[in-house]
Amino acid sequence: MRGVTVAITGANSGVGYHTALGLSRLGARVVLICRDQGRGERAQTAIEAETGARPDLLVADLSDMGEVRRVAADLQRAAPDLRVLINNAGVVTSRRTMTREGHELSNAVNHLAPFVLSNALLDLLKANAPARIVNVNSESHLSATLDFGDLDGEKQSFPPNRYGQSKLANMLFTVELAQRIDPALVTANALHPGLVATDFGDVGGVVQFGWTFMKPFGISPERGARTPIYCASSPQLDGVTGAFFVDCKPARPNPIVRDPAVRARLWEATERLVGKM
Ligand SMILES: NC(=O)c1ccc[n+]([C@@H]2O[C@H](COP(=O)([O-])OP(=O)(O)OC[C@H]3O[C@@H](n4cnc5c(N)ncnc54)[C@H](OP(=O)(O)O)[C@@H]3O)[C@@H](O)[C@H]2O)c1
Repeated sequence: MRGVTVAITGANSGVGYHTALGLSRLGARVVLICRDQGRGERAQTAIEAETGARPDLLVADLSDMGEVRRVAADLQRAAPDLRVLINNAGVVTSRRTMTREGHELSNAVNHLAPFVLSNALLDLLKANAPARIVNVNSESHLSATLDFGDLDGEKQSFPPNRYGQSKLANMLFTVELAQRIDPALVTANALHPGLVATDFGDVGGVVQFGWTFMKPFGISPERGARTPIYCASSPQLDGVTGAFFVDCKPARPNPIVRDPAVRARLWEATERLVGKM
């Protein structure tokens, strides 16, 4: 990965931190995109201590699409040679939480932010081809359903359903994006990192309750970073696009992603929420 510049969202903890560390170890220049300046700086310092290379840091709250557009512009200035974008930041909520812009939080961070950030950086990535977009998704999208009339989860009373729907939307977006771009220029793939023992589910309520039982069975964040590192760096994936990976191997996504009408409808519905890209 020497000579390759990679940007990673949610890079201060868990899977994102270890993906940034691993890619830095492989020689990539890494740009961390984090919500909090202090947590981002701690990740910068820790990666520098491990690898000798200090990653760059950009700060943005990715639940706010104005911030997502602003950080995309900052990234174009800070990393004009960007070749890999990893949309890793994610959130699960116990209570339905609305953002300042009026979106449900998990829809905003897990689906809308990767949609806006990827589209805003697409011309830059094409100019630096061959380039890659890697979306850290989840197997929870497999059993999820998508309610087009309710992307912001007003009718979803069971919290994990909101998360599942947002990850299904992200999976549909990944495949549709892949269909729209020449894979010789930019590929777009998604992955499940495994059940990873991070603080992801420590959000109180019913999610926290479930996470308490699941977390002890989770793999380490370092191991959880293997598939994102593979998707970002493996030469085996040159030209491979629109795929879903688990354990560094191709896996079957939710069969609904094969329906072009559903994908196109979601793209249009998403543009109605965030503006035309
Ligand atoms: N853990 C699992 O078992 C598992 C399974 C399947 C998929 N995943 C996916 O893996 C990804 C990473 O999760 P993780 O397990 O590593 O959890 P994590 O340690 O909680 O990491 C989540 C990251 O996203 C960032 N983030 C959340 N909301 C943000 C916002 N509004 N703006 C900017 N950054 C924000 C967090 O920043 P802060 O530190 O500031 O909160 C944190 O850096 C997520 O997309 C998740 O859906 C995880």
